[in-house]
Amino acid sequence: MQESNNVKTIGMSKTSKGPSKTAETIAMVRVGESRRPEDERVCYDPYAICFISREVLEFSTNNPEKYRAFLAQSERLVPGVRNSIIARVRYIDDLVNSSLGEGLEQLVILGAGYDTRAYRIEGLKNVRIFEVDQPATQKRKVEKIKEIFGSLPRYVTYVSVDIGVEKLDQRLLESGYDRSLKTLFIMEGLFMYLPPGTVDETLSFIAHNSGRSSAVVFDYIPQSVVDGTCELEAGRNWQKGVTDVGEPFLSGIKEGEIETFLTQRGFSKIRNVTSKDYKKAYFFGKNEGREMNSLLSFAYAVVE
Ligand SMILES: C[S@@+](CC[C@H](N)C(=O)[O-])C[C@H]1O[C@@H](n2cnc3c(N)ncnc32)[C@H](O)[C@@H]1O
Repeated sequence: MQESNNVKTIGMSKTSKGPSKTAETIAMVRVGESRRPEDERVCYDPYAICFISREVLEFSTNNPEKYRAFLAQSERLVPGVRNSIIARVRYIDDLVNSSLGEGLEQLVILGAGYDTRAYRIEGLKNVRIFEVDQPATQKRKVEKIKEIFGSLPRYVTYVSVDIGVEKLDQRLLESGYDRSLKTLFIMEGLFMYLPPGTVDETLSFIAHNSGRSSAVVFDYIPQSVVDGTCELEAGRNWQKGVTDVGEPFLSGIKEGEIETFLTQRGFSKIRNVTSKDYKKAYFFGKNEGREMNSLLSFAYAVVE
């Protein structure tokens, strides 16, 4: 996502071999929000800071003016995107909490990156959790979790998979995933990075291999951002930013087609959450003036 403009500017190289740069940049967005006063912040993640590399932390601490300038520059390129990402974190946190209240039995976090919900949402200790990511990112995640907590929690299973290259279904099932349980699948900041065929295979796995009332939540961008026809400069800047760090956007949804897209893939009770919706839900009072990015929407749907 545009968030990659941040890390690029702070000196990370363009490569797709090491840990994900976009995952770290999103963790940095969570750090920024978590530093706001308690009565202002929209989401809170006390562990996000542990996933920020020394290079980025030192840069932001030792060069506060340069860091502020670079944040302002990234805001100019893709206005409001950090706030939209913060809203995404909060929306999914709220969804996990409400799902817990409705008998959630299993949670699968696809493209988990440095997601810390397993460690900061209290009720999740009683749920089977699978965190799925590419090997390099997951290796770094696991090392950091051990550093923070001394050991890995027994209720989390780490599944190293390059979705689309390896078989997600096979790796999940051999890791103990139970297809009969009520499961929530989180694809936060992932849909857009998978090729369309892999998105379809992943949604098909979810629709055909999960218990009653299982559901999926993900965020998505318009197809026009992916194919470069977006009329908004922000859309073109955003695609350029992620492409420059080796993680280009590959999948989007044509405007107005999310319901059809999900219905055709076996989902129902679809909720589409636009930037207007999440601004209204989370950014009021002192946060009223914060701008959202209209290109990022969220979708939630239940397996039929
Ligand atoms: C933008 S980051 C989002 C990380 C995390 N979900 C969050 O919101 O903080 C995208 C994540 O998807 C992972 N990812 C991208 N393509 C993947 C693939 N083919 N298989 C597994 N993980 C993938 C990346 O390694 C990265 O951790």
